[in-house]
Parts: sequence; structure tokens; C-alpha cells
Amino acid sequence: MIIFAIETSCDETSVCLLDSEGQILSHIVNSQTEHQKYGGVIPEIASRAHLEILQKITKEAVIKANIKIQDVDIYCATCGPGLIGGLLVGSTFAKALAIGNNKPFVPINHLEGHILSPTFNNDMVYPYVCFLLTGGHTQIYLTHNINKYELLGETVDDAIGEAFDKVAKLLGLPYPGGAILEKKALNGNIDSYDLPHPLKKHKNLNFSFSGIKTAVNLIVKKQKKLDDIFISNMAASFQNKISEILISKLELTINYLRERKINISNLSLVGGVAANKYLYENLKKKASTYQCNILMPKNFMLSDNAAMIAWACSKKYSDNLTSDIMFKADPRLKVSSI
Ligand code: KG4
Ligand code: ZN
Repeated sequence: MIIFAIETSCDETSVCLLDSEGQILSHIVNSQTEHQKYGGVIPEIASRAHLEILQKITKEAVIKANIKIQDVDIYCATCGPGLIGGLLVGSTFAKALAIGNNKPFVPINHLEGHILSPTFNNDMVYPYVCFLLTGGHTQIYLTHNINKYELLGETVDDAIGEAFDKVAKLLGLPYPGGAILEKKALNGNIDSYDLPHPLKKHKNLNFSFSGIKTAVNLIVKKQKKLDDIFISNMAASFQNKISEILISKLELTINYLRERKINISNLSLVGGVAANKYLYENLKKKASTYQCNILMPKNFMLSDNAAMIAWACSKKYSDNLTSDIMFKADPRLKVSSI
């Protein structure tokens, strides 16, 4: 069985061919650079760029995998959440191929792709906790099993990646700023600036990041010159505050689950921000005090990619596959609604 998957929910255009043994036959990720000069993703530009590149990378992927398009058994695509233009381009392209080749089309939820990504290379023990840390979402899930996800908490304002990108922008760093900010923080002092810890006294599992960004903005405005020392110190202070917040949520999550008599031995960090080594190392240290292992997806499955979409499709539908050619892409699609 060969699965062909498309991911176009934001600014990555990606295709993947995966076989039934879970082997990736080919995988192409094209990160759009068109948005850099605007300091953020422009939805209309993103949709047009997906449209322009999708056909080309599909051909490349088929050649690389050394198959014919007729060998594909299942077509799937991200159908939400995300930018509606991109979702329509990707899902319509996959549907057209499915109809043309008389094969099933399977809609996949982007967040479920992220949540299941660590199961590609780890034997996760269910239930496991998943910290979903992306540019558009910040959520904590208890993954009871495939198809059964319990949302424990989420951000009430900005997403964690959005906070990294906005602070990076305030510091004059290019978009998307998360990875660059992490690099700058290596030379900075975490105690340089005392930034707020929103919702610190709240004992629930929700996040809030917009107050930290505002605090950084106020300090930046008072700063005469954004020199390298200032940038590194601010980057380090900001990143450390984010780390503190994640650690406090990790403790709250484990304690909350223990109250429910649920013992967690596996936790995973997924999504683009999970690539941050500082956050990973600090969370790993804290998790180990609870006898909990942090198991990570492969690096190529952290940022948006079609391999995680193909993998989610193969995990979800290994026994029971239903084609859903009429499924409508939904920019606010919830996990567990497919
Ligand atoms: O999962 P992802 O590729 O896209 C969404 O589904 O949103 O995440 C992208 C986000 C961006 O905000 C980017 O700045 C952030 O992940 N990011 C990082 C790092 N690498 C990527 N944030 C912090 N540290 C990093 N090393
Ligand atoms: Zn994503």
C-alpha cells in the first residue's frame, strides 16, 4: 500500500510518499521564503505559492520514489486547521488525483499529524502527554490512543511560536524568528530582564504569552540601540521565561493526571518550537524527576511536513479506511472531528 500526502496549511508546501511498512519513499518540503519581507505569512501569497509549486514537487516525489502515480493506493491531505486558501489548494489537488486515479481520498487534521509524529520513531506508551508547540497552536493533549485525544489546556491568546516570532521581530530579527532567537540566546544572560509569568497563580493548564511580548516591547522602546548584547540578553531572558512557563505546566499536568490516577511515563514535544534545544533540555530534566521520558519526533517531523500527514493517515486507517471526497477543508478544524 502506498500513501500520497499533501501538507499546505501554512507556508510549507510538502508532499510525501509512504509505504505500508512505514518507509518514506520520498518526502519534499518547500518552505516559502516569499513572506520574509513582510515579517509574517501573507495568506494570499501562500496559496498562490502552493498552487505554483505543488505540481512540480509531486512529479519530483513520484520520480524520487521510483513509482508510477498509478501505484498510489490512498490520497490524503491536511484539511485543517490552517489558512483556508492553502488548505483548499492542497486538498483539492489531492482530491483531483484521487478521482482521476479512482482511489480513496482521506482528510487529515494537521494537529493530529503533529500529535502522532512521535509514534513514527518511538514506541510510545499510551496514554502519553503531548505538548503541541507550533506557530499557530499551543495545547496540551492526553493521547489515550489513536483517534482519542483529550485536550487538557491551551493558549488563551498568542501561540508559543507566534510569541517567539513577535519578540524576534521586535529585536529586528528576520521572520520566522524562533530558531534565530534561540541562537542569539546562547550568548545572553537569562537574568538580564525580569519578564512576567502570565497565569502563574492559575492552577489550570492554559497558557498566555501576549503579556510577555508586550513587556519586551516596552523595554525595546526605551532602548536607544538594539546592539548584539541587548538582543542576546533579551533573547535569553525571554526564552528562559518560556521555559519556566512550560516547566510549571509540566508539573501541573503530571499532578493533575496523578489526581486522576493516570500515571504518565511518556511525554512528547511536537511542532516547530519543539526544535528548541534549551526548552527540550529543561523539560527533560524536570520530567525525569517524575520518572517520565521525553520522546521526540524525528527532526524532519517537527516543522510542518507531509510525512507526518502520511503517517497519521497510515496509523488512523490501518484497519478501517473510508474515502471522504466531499470533506470540506475547515480553517478551525478540531482534533477528533475527522
Ligand atoms: O509547527 P510549525 O512549523 O508550524 C505551525 O504549525 O505553526 O511551527 C513554526 C513555528 C514558528 O513560529 C517558528 O519560529 C518556530 O516554530 N520555531 C522555533 C524554533 N524553530 C522553529 N521556535 C523556537 N525555537 C526554535 N528553535
Ligand atoms: Zn504545524
